[in-house]
Amino acid sequence: MLPALSADEQRHSEAVAALIRAELAARGGWLSFERFMELALYAPGLGYYSAGSWKLGGGGDFVTAPEVSELFGRCVAAQCAQVLRATGGEILELGAGTGALSATILAALDAEGVLPERYAILEVSGDLAARQRARLEALAPHLRTRVVWLERLPQAPLCGVILANEVADALPVRRFSLRGGAVRELGVALSASGALQAAEGPPDAALAEACAAMFGTPPHSLPEGYTSEVNLRLGPWIAALGGCLERGVVLLFDYGLPRSHYYHAQRIAGTLRCHFRQRAHDEPLINLGVQDITAWVDFTRLAEAASRAGLEVSGFATQAAFLLALGIEQAVAAAADAVSRARLAGEARRLVMPEEMGEAFKVMALARGCGAPLEGFALQDLRRSL
Ligand SMILES: C[S@@+](CC[C@H](N)C(=O)[O-])C[C@H]1O[C@@H](n2cnc3c(N)ncnc32)[C@H](O)[C@@H]1O
Repeated sequence: MLPALSADEQRHSEAVAALIRAELAARGGWLSFERFMELALYAPGLGYYSAGSWKLGGGGDFVTAPEVSELFGRCVAAQCAQVLRATGGEILELGAGTGALSATILAALDAEGVLPERYAILEVSGDLAARQRARLEALAPHLRTRVVWLERLPQAPLCGVILANEVADALPVRRFSLRGGAVRELGVALSASGALQAAEGPPDAALAEACAAMFGTPPHSLPEGYTSEVNLRLGPWIAALGGCLERGVVLLFDYGLPRSHYYHAQRIAGTLRCHFRQRAHDEPLINLGVQDITAWVDFTRLAEAASRAGLEVSGFATQAAFLLALGIEQAVAAAADAVSRARLAGEARRLVMPEEMGEAFKVMALARGCGAPLEGFALQDLRRSL
């Protein structure tokens, strides 16, 4: 059973439902799941990420790698140091959450003597940007003054590193089901009593084309009733990132799979999940605006988009292999005393053990003009699985 909403959350959720009903009325009674997810997560002032829910960390709805341990950021910093030594320039972090990763990376790069010229953050959530500002305010002045917040991607292409941890999974997705040998698009409509309910209709041209390219026409090898997601926003997102990278690496961290595993015939209900107070469930139409909605990432789609954007997939590995290659074990061993060593060892286990975050989370590097093999991928190369 999910925890009940507080009175404030209930009011907030009703306001989001009213917004979605108004949009349904304006659009003939049907919204694609993608548009529904966009409103539920990002509607100005109301969406889950735009409004004031606590979201990340132990007291929130879910925990990400930078919230589990600063060991994650220290290893990512080691990878950034290698790239920055070759390219100079800056770091741009997309969707920086609470600012935990930015703070750790800046401190670790300072200790290494490879500070970026600036550390830019592009954050769509005003609420999270305010939390990042409060957190990064505590940095030493020579680090704090390097941090800037951007409203949009930089106009002039940058050299250095672009980072995004768990951002791709937060981009709104299309959903579909296979019925009678045809693709049907899943969306949201109103029931006779005026409640939001799941609905299905014919796919629009973009979804039909994406499914035909992946599964053939008619879709073969997937069972009747098969339901899954397609992220049609990944392509434009990667194209935009590619457009603002002159020389360097885009590092993407997320839970996901190569396409052949993502759309496996046995994964009949897809990968969409909701997160509410540390519980995962699969009911996106409840708790509107107060729960997270995510879908796993099809890394093959990311790689295809990268290739169209002129970026080279220069690494693809599990999070475990990436962190081990960048010295997570040595960082634990170097702890100042036995108590912190034991604490860090526990945190490292959460980050690398296969049944925790080690296998489900992957890291993909997209490079331009950055020749040397990246140190984070020295132990594992999963690119052939894409
Ligand atoms: C799941 S949270 C991850 C936060 C943080 N990276 C971490 O690992 O703790 C997703 C983040 O991506 C941000 N976000 C979503 N879409 C974005 C976009 N198109 N550009 C930049 N940030 C975005 C959200 O506001 C939020 O900060």
